[in-house]
Amino acid sequence: MIGREKIIHVKVPGSSANLGPGFDSLGLALPFYLSVRVQLAERNSIKVYGDHLASLPLDSSNLIYQTMNYFYQKENQELPPVAIEIESEIPLSRGLGSSGAAIVAGLLAANELMDGKKSKEEILQYATELEGHADNVAASLYGGFVVTTWDGKTAKAEHFPVTEELQVLLAIPNYTLSTNIARKAIPKDIPLKDAAFNIGHSALLVTYLLTGQYDKIPLVMKDRLHQPYRQTAVKGLERVIREIGQHELWGVALSGAGPTIILFIPPNQKKVAETYMKQIAREEGIEFEIKSCFIENEGAKIEILWGSHLF
Ligand code: HSE
Repeated sequence: MIGREKIIHVKVPGSSANLGPGFDSLGLALPFYLSVRVQLAERNSIKVYGDHLASLPLDSSNLIYQTMNYFYQKENQELPPVAIEIESEIPLSRGLGSSGAAIVAGLLAANELMDGKKSKEEILQYATELEGHADNVAASLYGGFVVTTWDGKTAKAEHFPVTEELQVLLAIPNYTLSTNIARKAIPKDIPLKDAAFNIGHSALLVTYLLTGQYDKIPLVMKDRLHQPYRQTAVKGLERVIREIGQHELWGVALSGAGPTIILFIPPNQKKVAETYMKQIAREEGIEFEIKSCFIENEGAKIEILWGSHLF
């Protein structure tokens, strides 16, 4: 392609879903980004940057491409040939919302390519249809702390900024877990008392996060819906959940479907959290990449660049 071409650049943060008791409902955006550049082209082509993305398909089975296609199908139109470039700081299959971010990126890029008319609420709807739950996609789309629901037809989400009083530590292991398998580990039916337990705990967690009562998070960072069934596949999780009360930290949860472990850290306790997780790594024989960060409050961004052909 010759001359100055329109390039759509979408930058989407990763996320941590569930936050303990809020299975499939609560999420936080994280400041690690997926960047996607899309341009009309003569034929379809996809390029990824970085060895960690080498496993991604470069044909029509690519999730970003499929998502763009889904958007066009929903609008009864045909996706024109596109060139797609993908870069990402979000580790794949670690419970950090890489597929949710890819879905949001694909939908925003397709919307921009078509006419840019869809609202974020409509993008959320399509994203949730594709993902099957709204927690990751809403966090990636809106940023901040999100509270979501999905009844199989309609997605709803509210989002709120999170102050720097709350920091999180992510202990990202060097092995991956499939979300599909991790979802199958959860029984289809759960006891009523466990459902009631989680409703109360997640409702209070939302209350504490929205009213800035972060020091009360430890009281409610408990879950009976998914972590008990998933923890056998997540090295170190059961121990950290058992021991967290002995440290001056605000709580621990499985990030999404895992295997990343997320710790909620009070101000000035970052070192304590890092030292503790390094001890866990040593004693349990786990290789973790440890990252501490604040919550990402901006959400997905789109910019239009003008340049020559992408690659
Ligand atoms: N809420 C989802 C789960 C997040 O726990 O399975 C992972 O995609």
